[in-house]
Amino acid sequence: MYRNTLHYAEKTKKACSNINPCFDMTVEFGIIGGSGFYSISSKGIEEKIETPYGNVLVNIFNINNKKVAFITRHGPKHSIPPHLVNYRANIFALHSIGVKQIITSSAVGSMKKEMAPGSFVIPDQFIDFTIGRPKTFFVDNFEVKLHNGTIRKGVVHIDLSEPYCPHLRNESIVQSKKIAKNTFSKGVYVCTEGPRFETPAEINAFKILGGSLVGMTSVSESILARELGICYSTICLVTNFAAGMQEKISAEEVFAVFKSKVHELEEIIVNTIANLDISAKNCSCDKL
Ligand code: HPA
Repeated sequence: MYRNTLHYAEKTKKACSNINPCFDMTVEFGIIGGSGFYSISSKGIEEKIETPYGNVLVNIFNINNKKVAFITRHGPKHSIPPHLVNYRANIFALHSIGVKQIITSSAVGSMKKEMAPGSFVIPDQFIDFTIGRPKTFFVDNFEVKLHNGTIRKGVVHIDLSEPYCPHLRNESIVQSKKIAKNTFSKGVYVCTEGPRFETPAEINAFKILGGSLVGMTSVSESILARELGICYSTICLVTNFAAGMQEKISAEEVFAVFKSKVHELEEIIVNTIANLDISAKNCSCDKL
């Protein structure tokens, strides 16, 4: 119903009594928390954001006087598997309330011996092996007004030479190194469709292609955020060695390792946002 509107955010603001809450459009930062990253969501006020793709629950709170919207990627009870996450709804919802920068957490398997479980990696590149998810907003005459005022519509080819925002990456690297010695400032994230884990043969192939991490989520978000001109980066927490590099992989292991590190991860993300200076950003995430 709103698919073709240029000024969705303005419309929803006007209709705030019966559709979306009356934001004053100053929620500039978004956090999308992956598997096990929930504690931060108890800090704020929950709001429901309507989008053309479905409703999204966000939790709004302040970090260092900055308004932040938090979304749990897999739902509050971890009931949504990676291939069924409503990526478009999540990114659209954040855009519609004014978000310009999104930082996320992602659990990953490592394809590099030196990136052992418990390490933090801020990837700089990705390879997309997802097959069954909507990967673009630009279907059915979709039009959007970016936060820089540009109208984007028609045939849109985003540039992904730098798929993760360098401004966001730099700040998270600085903050991660302060908290965790085992921080890696580069990595190639290979995104699989999931929900299954990989075969050792697939992992060997990904290694030959230059992959260093394997996960099931972040790439879809990075692409969609860039389409709406939003800065995006992710902090990966290595929960296991990839298939064939350890005896077997289980979701229980992934959750257990994630849980043991989630407070560090939360601190890194909070400190990153606290120290980000939007006015100093020199990236071109909102340009084609
Ligand atoms: N593969 C894919 N996704 C993952 C893994 C993995 O080994 N570990 C955590 N998320």
